Amino acid sequence: MRYYFAPMEGITSYLHRAIHRRFFPGVDRYYMPFVSPSQGHAFTKREKADLSPERNAGVPAVPQLLTRRAEDFIWAAGELAHMGYREVNLNLGCPSGTVTAKGKGSGFLAFPEELERFLDEIYGVNLPIDISIKTRLGVRDEGEFPALLELYNRYPVKELTIHPRVQKDLYRLPVRPAAFAQAAEGCKLPLCYNGDLCTVADCRNIEGQYPGVEAIMLGRALVADPALVRKIQGGPPATAGELETFHNALYDAYTEAFGSRRNAMLRMKEIWYYHIHLFRDHEKHAKHIRKARETGDFEAWTASAYRELELLPELPRGLDDGTPWN
Ligand SMILES: Cc1cc2nc3c(=O)[nH]c(=O)nc-3n(C[C@H](O)[C@H](O)[C@H](O)COP(=O)(O)O)c2cc1C
Repeated sequence: MRYYFAPMEGITSYLHRAIHRRFFPGVDRYYMPFVSPSQGHAFTKREKADLSPERNAGVPAVPQLLTRRAEDFIWAAGELAHMGYREVNLNLGCPSGTVTAKGKGSGFLAFPEELERFLDEIYGVNLPIDISIKTRLGVRDEGEFPALLELYNRYPVKELTIHPRVQKDLYRLPVRPAAFAQAAEGCKLPLCYNGDLCTVADCRNIEGQYPGVEAIMLGRALVADPALVRKIQGGPPATAGELETFHNALYDAYTEAFGSRRNAMLRMKEIWYYHIHLFRDHEKHAKHIRKARETGDFEAWTASAYRELELLPELPRGLDDGTPWN
């Protein structure tokens, strides 16, 4: 089984990927947050920074594109191949309103004929880079998926990652295991499962239930517990000391990159939103970390979490309770 870090915009930056890999090696691929290639055919400065081969050296990073225009996809995939990437992922899963309103991400699933033309074009030009796909089950109804799967099956998709929710489910409505089981039966492509796995047992369940699944992609739970893949692979859970070292390395790296400890703190809070769930009886610490305005307070309360709270052996359900932290 291969294990992947899911792309998470605002969290899994090049610094996060590199530092995670340094402290917790074992993840087979790191999918990068999406880039939306513009019609002007130029990456923004920010996109270039995250895609830079030097900054991703030693990290098995896979870029992701979000677009509904084949011409823009082909341009961007060519650039990525030129930078040395061997795989590019097409985002057909993003449920955010601003993205789907433009018919991109999971919004593209509402236009199967246009999607077919798009896939014909991007798989038809013999790009020097493999194309994988990350998809949801549909827009409104999982009954949309059999036709979509029939479409994907016709192309040399390097790997199909299925997040078994529809667009309207966003991230919090339950995943749809029955629809995934049906998809796994009909899928003729290398298949990856993604969605709501929190524990070693959750991953074992997927492995046991779906022999056709070759890879598992983990997002929120791997942010919450950076040693989760190590545990799945039979290694020990992270100690508080390891977690604190990882945390401080990332915080320092963001401070240097942003030239601002305060901005680094805001970035780290995005991680604490998930990470806090790894600690037993964390309510008081969660409140103080969330509310911290001064970096000194943030640093004191995070250090105290590592030193005073007990680590849970497994993450609980409900990592994403929807209360914003910033
Ligand atoms: C804050 C956030 C940012 C995300 N950014 C992306 C992204 O850029 N591209 C993408 O394909 N999915 C993105 N996702 C979806 C995740 O990759 C993943 O599919 C989702 O979190 C479900 O997996 P999980 O339950 O293991 O977290 C994002 C999710 C979250 C919560």
